[in-house]
Formats: sequence, structure tokens, C-alpha cells
Amino acid sequence: MPLTTFHPIWIFRELTGWRGPSGFGSGSTAEQVTAGVDASNLTAIVTGGASGIGEETSRVLALRGAHVIIAARNIDAANSARSRIIDSNPAARIDVLKLDLASIKSVRSFAMNFLSMDLPLNLLINNAGVMFCPYQLSEDGIEMQFATNHIGHFLLTDLLLGKMKSTARETGIEGRIVNLSSIAHSTYIVPGGIRFHAINDESSYYDKTAYGQSKLANILHANELSRRLKEEGANITVNSVHPGLIMTNLVRHSAFYMGFLRVFTFPIWKDVPRGAATTSYVALHPALNGVSGKYFQDCNEREPSDDARDKELARKLWEFSERLVLAEQ
Ligand SMILES: NC(=O)c1ccc[n+]([C@@H]2O[C@H](COP(=O)([O-])OP(=O)(O)OC[C@H]3O[C@@H](n4cnc5c(N)ncnc54)[C@H](OP(=O)(O)O)[C@@H]3O)[C@@H](O)[C@H]2O)c1
Repeated sequence: MPLTTFHPIWIFRELTGWRGPSGFGSGSTAEQVTAGVDASNLTAIVTGGASGIGEETSRVLALRGAHVIIAARNIDAANSARSRIIDSNPAARIDVLKLDLASIKSVRSFAMNFLSMDLPLNLLINNAGVMFCPYQLSEDGIEMQFATNHIGHFLLTDLLLGKMKSTARETGIEGRIVNLSSIAHSTYIVPGGIRFHAINDESSYYDKTAYGQSKLANILHANELSRRLKEEGANITVNSVHPGLIMTNLVRHSAFYMGFLRVFTFPIWKDVPRGAATTSYVALHPALNGVSGKYFQDCNEREPSDDARDKELARKLWEFSERLVLAEQ
């Protein structure tokens, strides 16, 4: 049984970088956890790969030989990230495609564009996200953090799943989907986990719990999809991760709050190379062959919150998300 995030053993490991059962820990970098892995036969999509953890994940996947498609809403930023990666590794295979996860139309058009490229798809890294935004609705009328962090990725994954299944079938290589969640799924909570009845309600909106709810949705989505794929016998795993605390553009709506928080919690903050380690480990490491429906932190399995392990809540969220997406067709 994996230990919870707040178990004293893990707090000790978090603070000291002491490695866990996987042989890696909070001090491991994305390059270290993928050393020796040959990903040259893999194609990956990394959402939000234009900055922060997503850029580092794209760089390291490409360093291991994967063909990486950076899916980004800001094409200039994505092209700059692509140039930085190629400057450090001229052999890197990186393409850029436009994707705005807060727009159902844009997600559909991204999927159409990607599928028209007739590439295989082995890895889908659902990394993009926004945090603690002031109340705002997406162009489809869905609260912005839920729309970007969960609904956009829910639809994107659904639209790309056929391609992932055919790639896995034809190549015999296991497909992997990684959802970037956060420890916030267990610290910024609302009663019942997901406010199905008030998902867009402005009067009761609180930016922190709206983020926590969207990150809980990332885990529930991964778990329910994993269950469905196991039932089908598809050769695709789905897991979720908390990358750690890393000072990135993510804090743009909460620079003062996060800066203040960091003063008291600085020993557990990571730099970006360590922040991309858990995603890269779960995406590429051979030790995780066949491992699905799990939650990882510091490159080791952890037990997420009770809500995150609630199978009924995961089913309910799946049906709710389908209805939201279908309503916008
Ligand atoms: N940093 C942390 O401490 C931390 C902790 C726990 C979890 N996480 C998770 O890790 C993931 C990556 O975060 P990060 O720290 O690397 O932050 P980041 O540097 O801000 O990266 C997030 C990326 O998502 C993109 N994005 C935002 N909204 C989008 C949209 N509507 N459509 C397409 N792309 C969009 C951003 O693009 P723009 O630049 O155009 O906005 C950016 O490239 C997020 O899911 C976050 O929740 C981070």
C-alpha cells in the first residue's frame, strides 16, 4: 500500500531528497530518471510545452529521442521553446501545434490537425494548466480553471484515444497518458469533491478551491479512463502526478501569495529540472510497464486523497464532463 503524501516518512524524504522504492526521489531530475531510456520510436504530445515543467519535459523526451509535439495556445512562446530545445540538442525532433484548452472548438481543431499529420501517438502528457485565476468563464461558458485544466484535457484525450489505441496495437508498444495534477487536490477541497451543482457559480467562487477541484478532476479522469481501458484490454496506461512545488509562470495570478508561502516552505521547493522528473519518469521509465490508475509524487507512487480514490465520484465526473462537452458540439 503506498503511503500518503503527508506521511512522516515522505515528509522526511521530501526534505532530504532521500530516494524512495523506485530509486528516485525529490532530488532527482528529469534527465536522471530517464537516463538510458531509448524513446526514439515514440511520438509524444505535451500540452503547455512552451514553458515551465512542460518545456523541460519536452526537452528531456526529445533528448531521449522522442518526436515531441508541443501543443500551445501561444505559438510564439512555443516556437521560442522549440528553438531553445534545438539549440541545446540539434537532433531534437520538435513540432509546434496550436491548442487552446479553454476552447472546445480549438481542442477539436488541434485533434483534427494532429490526426491529419498521420503520425503515431504513444505518449500524451496532459500538462498545461492555470492556477488561482480570478473568476472567469471560458468561451464555452465553463469556469476557466475547470475548463482549461480538466474539460479541455478530457476532450483532447478522448479525441486522440483512437490514434493511441491503433498505435499501441500496430507497434506492440504500450501507450501512456500522464495527467498533471497537484497536491492541491487534497489541500484546497470543496465538500463532495466536485461542485457539480455549482461548477460555474460566481457568487461562491474561491480561486484556490476551484484550482484544487480541477486538479482532483485530473486524478479522477485518469483513474476512470484507466479503468475503462483495462476493461477493454487496451495497451495504454493512465496515471497522474504531483510534480512538486516549482516557481513557474503558473503563479502569475498569485505571485505574492506563493512568494509568501515559499518563505515558510522553501526546503521543499524544486527547480524546473527536478519539477519535470515525475512526469518524465511516469512517461518513460520501463519499471512502470503495465502500471495504470496510480498517483505519483517524487517519482514514487503515493496515495492520493479519499475523494481522488472514489470510484463513484470518478464515474459521475466522467458523465458530467461528457455532457458539458456534448452540449458544446
Ligand atoms: N509549478 C508548480 O508548483 C506546480 C505544482 C503542482 C502542479 N503543477 C501543474 O503542473 C502543470 C504545469 O505547470 P507549470 O508550473 O509548468 O506552469 P506554466 O509554466 O505556467 O505552464 C503551464 C502551461 O500551460 C499553458 N496553458 C495555460 N492555459 C492554456 C490553455 N488554455 N491552452 C493551452 N495551454 C495553456 C501555459 O501557456 P501560457 O504561457 O500561454 O499561459 C503554459 O505553457 C500544470 O498543470 C500545473 O497545475 C504545477
